[in-house]
Order: sequence, then C-alpha cells, then structure tokens
Amino acid sequence: MNEFYCKDIISIKDYDKSQLETIFASTDKIMQLDPSDRRELCRGKTLGYLFYEPSTRTRLSFDSAMASVGGNSLGISDISYSSTQKGESLADTVKMMSIYSDVMVLRHPLDGSSRFAAEISDRPVINAGSGTEEHPTQAIQDLFTIKKEKKKIDGLKIGIVGDLKYGRTVYSLLYGLGNYDVDVRLISPESLRIRPDSTYEIKKKLDFVETVDIEEHLDDLDVLYVTRIQKERFPDEEEYLKVRGSYVVGLDMLKRMKDDSIILHPLPRIDEIAADVDRTKNAKYFKQAEYGKYTRAALLSMILCKDGAS
Ligand code: CP
Repeated sequence: MNEFYCKDIISIKDYDKSQLETIFASTDKIMQLDPSDRRELCRGKTLGYLFYEPSTRTRLSFDSAMASVGGNSLGISDISYSSTQKGESLADTVKMMSIYSDVMVLRHPLDGSSRFAAEISDRPVINAGSGTEEHPTQAIQDLFTIKKEKKKIDGLKIGIVGDLKYGRTVYSLLYGLGNYDVDVRLISPESLRIRPDSTYEIKKKLDFVETVDIEEHLDDLDVLYVTRIQKERFPDEEEYLKVRGSYVVGLDMLKRMKDDSIILHPLPRIDEIAADVDRTKNAKYFKQAEYGKYTRAALLSMILCKDGAS
C-alpha cells in the first residue's frame, strides 16, 4: 500500500525529500500513462470541493485531474450560493461533504482551517490554501516544475520576489525547498518580508538572504519565482498602495538573466510580469499551471487507491 493512501495533505512540512520524490515519480507515471489506463485509477470515486475563496487554477485543475483518473467531482465554488449564507458552520459543511465524497479539497481564508477540517472529516482533506499559512499542492507543483524544467533542484539559485508576507504559496515553497540544497534570495519591499514567526522555522532547513534589490541578483539566478502582491490580505489599503507595482519583471530584466533561467509564478498575475515575457522561452508559468493538473492527479490516485500510480 502506498504511504499516501487515505491520508490528508495539510502542510508540505509533513513531507521529506523522499516523499516528495515519490510524488514526482508518480506524476511522471501519470503523464506517461495512456489516457484510457489513467481513467481506471480512480474510477467511481468522487472529489468534493469547498472553496470559501475565489480560485481558477486550483479548483479547475483538481476537477480536471479527477476526471483524468476516471473520477467525478462536485462541490461549492461560490460559498454565497451555499447554506453558509444561512449560518451553517464550516464543521457542519465539512461533515456534509464527507458524506458526499471520497476526498475533499478545501480553500478557506483562515489559517488552520484545513487541519480543523481534517479533524472533523471522515474522508481525507487536501488543503487548497488556508489563509496566509500554506498552499501545499501548489508547492508540490512548483517543485515538480523546477525539477522538470531544470532537471534538478539541488544546487540551484532561486529568487522569490514580491509579497513574501501574505503569499501562502511562498511559505509552502520555502518549507518544500528546505528538503533540498538550494541558495535562496528573498526579494521584497521591507514591509512584505517573510513573517518573523516563520523565519526561525525556515532558517532551520534553508539558507537564504533577504533583500529589496532585485537587480543585484538577476544575473546569477536559475529560477525567478514571482508572486502577486496579495491586495485582499492587507488590513489597510494605504499600505497596499505603498508597495503596489514594486517589482515588474519585463524583457529588460530578462536580458540580464542567464539564458537558461526560468520564470515561475503561481498565478494569477496582475502586473508583476509584463505580458511580452510570456512568449520567451524562459516563461514557464503556464507550463507550471499545466503540471499542476498532473501533480494533483498523482496525489488523488495515491490518496484514493492503495497502489496509486506506481
Ligand atoms: N495558484 C493558485 O492557487 O491559483 P488560483 O487562486 O486561481 O487557484
């Protein structure tokens, strides 16, 4: 039986390098499988999703991933059309979804929401974004993208730029990178540095420098991971306006980077990567989103089937 069978996915901190590599191997297998064989993996299983915050990629990629392994999905993508509006609690909503589905995907604005749901649910829970805390399946997809596009993760120089305070993908990525031997540069406005409560934990496993200056690092990076300033998480709009547009990656910056460097972004993008970067060979953010479909299919197959896609 595979070790992910019937297990929740709440935090990437729960996985070591060997477990991440197992997920990547399973993803490779999923990508190579004939579509008709892939559809046998989770035939008859149901994925339930509960999205208390907006999503395009995460929800649709889980939907698409579930269909690709032969299952079906149902759920709530707009909470304003659910009984939450009548006052139903998260706990009761989770209990209901565990009756209707075999595995549950939850996105919620509160830190700790997925762990709370996992305690209540009779079915495995996958964290699809919990407050500013974590987005573990995004980090799995990000690490897989780096591995596929750079052929390795160890030894790389990785810049992460933008909103490092509120961007939950950043925390999951940093915890995941802590399993590898990488040189990380955290580039942000002073007010958007990673949160001090997380710095200590990240530092235990990862070497990084913090800076506001992207220019001095450009020529040396293998990967530039760009993030959106998370306007919706600022308690004060004035503070958002001070940092809006702090970094815009354009062709001018790209020219100063290594020829084989890659640009990643969890998306959605607002204005932090200029549209004309999209057509360069370095732009891998849409490919990264595509890999998310396969990493999620691999995770679903391992959670729902004893053998997974092994
Ligand atoms: N990367 C990501 O989580 O995108 P969505 O918010 O569209 O799901």
